[in-house]
Amino acid sequence: MWKAVVTAAVAFVLLFCRSSTLDNGLARTPPMGWLAWERFRCNVDCVDDPYNCISEELFMQMADRLAEDGWKELGYNYLNIDDCWMSMDRDEQGNLYANKTRFPNGIKKLADYVHSKGLKLGIYLDFGTHTCGGYPGSIKYLQKDAETIAGWGIDMLKMDGCYANVSDMSWGYPDMEMYMNKTGRPILFSCSWPAYAGGIKVDYSVLAKHCNAWRNYDDIQDSWDSVTHIIDWFGDNQDVLAPVAGPGHWNDPDMLIVGDYSLSYEESKAQMAMWAILAAPLFMSNDLRSISPEARSILMNKEVIRISQDSLGMQGRRVIKGTNKVETWIRQVQTKDTFAVAFLNRREDGMPYNHTLTLGSLNFTSTMGYEVVDVYDNHRYGHFKLDTKLTVSIDPNGVVFVYAYPSK
Ligand SMILES: *[C@@H]1O[C@H](CO)[C@@H](O)[C@H](O)[C@H]1NC(C)=O
Ligand SMILES: *[C@@H]1O[C@H](CO)[C@@H](O)[C@H](O)[C@H]1NC(C)=O
Ligand SMILES: *[C@@H]1O[C@H](CO)[C@@H](O)[C@H](O)[C@H]1NC(C)=O
Ligand SMILES: *[C@@H]1O[C@H](CO)[C@@H](O)[C@H](O)[C@H]1NC(C)=O
Ligand SMILES: *[C@@H]1O[C@H](CO)[C@@H](O)[C@H](O)[C@H]1NC(C)=O
Repeated sequence: MWKAVVTAAVAFVLLFCRSSTLDNGLARTPPMGWLAWERFRCNVDCVDDPYNCISEELFMQMADRLAEDGWKELGYNYLNIDDCWMSMDRDEQGNLYANKTRFPNGIKKLADYVHSKGLKLGIYLDFGTHTCGGYPGSIKYLQKDAETIAGWGIDMLKMDGCYANVSDMSWGYPDMEMYMNKTGRPILFSCSWPAYAGGIKVDYSVLAKHCNAWRNYDDIQDSWDSVTHIIDWFGDNQDVLAPVAGPGHWNDPDMLIVGDYSLSYEESKAQMAMWAILAAPLFMSNDLRSISPEARSILMNKEVIRISQDSLGMQGRRVIKGTNKVETWIRQVQTKDTFAVAFLNRREDGMPYNHTLTLGSLNFTSTMGYEVVDVYDNHRYGHFKLDTKLTVSIDPNGVVFVYAYPSK
């Protein structure tokens, strides 16, 4: 009896690890880059707003910034088009093509340009009859569209799920993955399937088999409310979500809005830290042509990026939701005993809050104690035995983000 159970368990593990996750060699760490949607939306008015409309000009300018301002070297190497790039109709052969006024040279030329800068180009399709913005959908053209984007040299596809029945997604997303595989071009596949299927009411082992990342939940908006709403949802559903993330297949809480209009400096640090804890794809949606030095320094922080890109690929968890409105989130990194810990202050009472704890209370186990160092500024908090008190001062709507690693 036990032998049968153990054999079954081993078979399951082998199956899951060997063949049940998407094997296109991509997204071994959470992908990074820039995505147009949150900041530039479906602005197609190139007459009155040529500088900000969805056009090849906009993407070439963002490619220049990614390549020339140090982003690419840090890992931000995908430049992603979102909705509203297409012409309203397919051509006579049923092929998609870009709006000729706004993309006069077409997507292939744009891909060549982006590749010449050492970057990768992502594009957007919708599984249903139309995209969310009303442009042609892919439901009857999956193979054709896979071949089209591969022919253009596309490196990543975000496939949305507007105007589709959720029940059709269980064949549609796998079919699209199969057709992309058949083209022979590795294309990172981001699936919006769970976001339309109610977030946790999907079989994530199937998703991991066909998608490199998936949007689980609501679109992010430019507000701290939206950021915390998403963080809360990921915390509340972590028992489902955390185990399904790993190299090649990630949960996606949506874009980074650091550098946009709404977040304060502390809130920006908090979003970046939390996205690193969550092993989330890091797609900025901001204007890289005019981003502030403060926002840039947060997005470019090498130690935060190092945690995000940790090779173990383990998604962190909310381990304490304190009655004092401080949440403790932990992600295991590098070696077994090293942790990234985010203390997230959900208080709004206008002054820094001193949060006191012991590492023993976080179930840390090394009796020799831990070195605690700030991730953002390398400040050394000191050496802490399991029962030594540690106090961190966290600004309202802010985070204190530390590494803790065992040391004498
Ligand atoms: C291209 O986009 C412009 C708006 O910028 C729009 O007026 C025009 O109808 C679009 N063309 C097609 C063929 O969809
Ligand atoms: C959803 O399914 C219903 C019933 O099969 C069908 O009538 C409808 O056209 C479908 N909608 C879409 C957007 O595919
Ligand atoms: C297609 O799938 C096979 C089997 O999983 C894999 O070995 C191969 O690398 C894939 N090719 C592409 C281009 O994704
Ligand atoms: C928080 O701790 C710091 C350093 O220990 C101290 O200077 C400060 O007064 C404390 N703040 C409050 C509100 O207790
Ligand atoms: C520590 O472990 C105990 C017992 O398993 C558990 O109830 C508690 O939630 C854990 N605390 C943290 C912070 O992980």
